[in-house]
Amino acid sequence: MTIHEILPLVSTSFIVLSAICVAVGWVLIAQRKIKPHQKWMNAAAIFATIFFIVYVLRTSILGSTPFNGPESLKNVYLAFLLFHIVLATIGGVMGLVTLRYAYKNMVEKHRKIGPKTSIVWFCTAITGVTVYYLLYVKYPGGETKPLLDAIFG
Ligand code: HEM
Repeated sequence: MTIHEILPLVSTSFIVLSAICVAVGWVLIAQRKIKPHQKWMNAAAIFATIFFIVYVLRTSILGSTPFNGPESLKNVYLAFLLFHIVLATIGGVMGLVTLRYAYKNMVEKHRKIGPKTSIVWFCTAITGVTVYYLLYVKYPGGETKPLLDAIFG
């Protein structure tokens, strides 16, 4: 395995770990276990941050990997990738707002946004794993290159 294959696997694994922590945190709060909920959600935030750092460093230093599947699926893939990026961005912002409400003790607002943030984050993880599957498992071999070349090249 080359660094071009390892880094996406690492970053995708961290999104999945983060989503698993959110799921556990949600189950815990449903049982009114506040301290354990806080710990699991903090872990989710840490894993999400690691994902983000690895992703940004990889994309800025090594570049991005283009879709190597059939030409006819390229636009579908790009639309799906865009959907995943939009979800991840919204999920990240909602995550920060959710954490802020928690630490400012704004419990009502936190309770309201918490389930929405969790669902957006689950969708981010599922679409992220799908993008990983399409790029590195189903249609491997795309050559990693600078970001704009990978999208439009
Ligand atoms: C981004 C991270 C977090 C997410 C996604 C999240 C999500 C949730 C969800 C889904 C609920 C249940 C809402 C309901 O009642 O239906 C909840 C409640 C709660 N969360 Fe979080 N949470 C996060 C971080 C935290 C942190 C760090 C703390 C502690 C500082 C915290 C403290 C609480 C408390 C106290 C409640 C229960 C409020 C109540 O019903 O009395 N949460 N959260």
